[in-house]
Amino acid sequence: MRLKNKVAIITGAAVGIGRAAALRFAQEGANVVVTDINSGGAREVADTITASGGRAIALAHDVSRESQWIEVVGAAVEAFGTVDVLFNNAGIFVLKPLAETALEDWERVMAINVTGVFLGMKHVMPLMANAGKGSVINASSVAGLVGSPRSTMYSASKGAVRAMTKGAALEYAARGVRANSIHPGLVDTAMADYASGTAGRSKQELGHAMSPMGRLGTAEEVSNLALFLASDDSSYMNGAELVLDGGFTAA
Ligand SMILES: NC(=O)c1ccc[n+]([C@@H]2O[C@H](COP(=O)([O-])OP(=O)(O)OC[C@H]3O[C@@H](n4cnc5c(N)ncnc54)[C@H](O)[C@@H]3O)[C@@H](O)[C@H]2O)c1
Repeated sequence: MRLKNKVAIITGAAVGIGRAAALRFAQEGANVVVTDINSGGAREVADTITASGGRAIALAHDVSRESQWIEVVGAAVEAFGTVDVLFNNAGIFVLKPLAETALEDWERVMAINVTGVFLGMKHVMPLMANAGKGSVINASSVAGLVGSPRSTMYSASKGAVRAMTKGAALEYAARGVRANSIHPGLVDTAMADYASGTAGRSKQELGHAMSPMGRLGTAEEVSNLALFLASDDSSYMNGAELVLDGGFTAA
């Protein structure tokens, strides 16, 4: 029970990595606030948690909208009294050649991947600081560390997450609130399906190309890293960037 009595908000938690983290955090004793723009999916995850004896609520939440962040934080505090963990997981993956990237594409990716994380930290970290404790986990990517063709826009968004995390980590360090970014390689979720479709290569082929270990990561493997950062096991870890990519960026 590594998260016993902790309250965790997880964004984009209807499917994929966020869903796996919601289930994992609940198994470890957390009260989970499952949020997603896909409210039906979020409800299904919260129902799964409560059906197995855990505590969770589901909220419709577009992370790019500040008014919805205010509502989510208010609902979390009303339901569970505080917020100990924020996993800014929601994100979108759009690959386009630079010259074919419309300004609207850029603005949409930045609104969700960058503004969403900024707003989450803005509205949750002061609350955590008042309580003198908290852990923020921001979903970046290997794309926030290295480049690849057609990934200028996505890399820009994930590079911003990496840098924002360090700024916020330093701002709140003395008040007991930590923030770290995670940098997965290609993980077998809808995003890997999308990457496979745009590349015209199977997920197995992409696993070989994207990882010295020869396979994609799993959402459960990422959720284990998020659990470590959410728990007190990582109590001296702050402003760090944790890579989990089977060795892709070691080359
Ligand atoms: N899957 C990968 O290969 C991979 C690799 C590195 C980083 N990441 C990052 O991990 C995070 C989760 O990825 P995933 O693979 O689980 O993706 P996914 O596409 O499986 O799930 C993303 C979730 O975010 C939700 N979402 C989309 N827009 C939203 C919005 N405006 N507000 C709230 N929720 C919204 C979706 O409804 C969905 O439930 C993302 O930030 C992604 O960039 C993923």
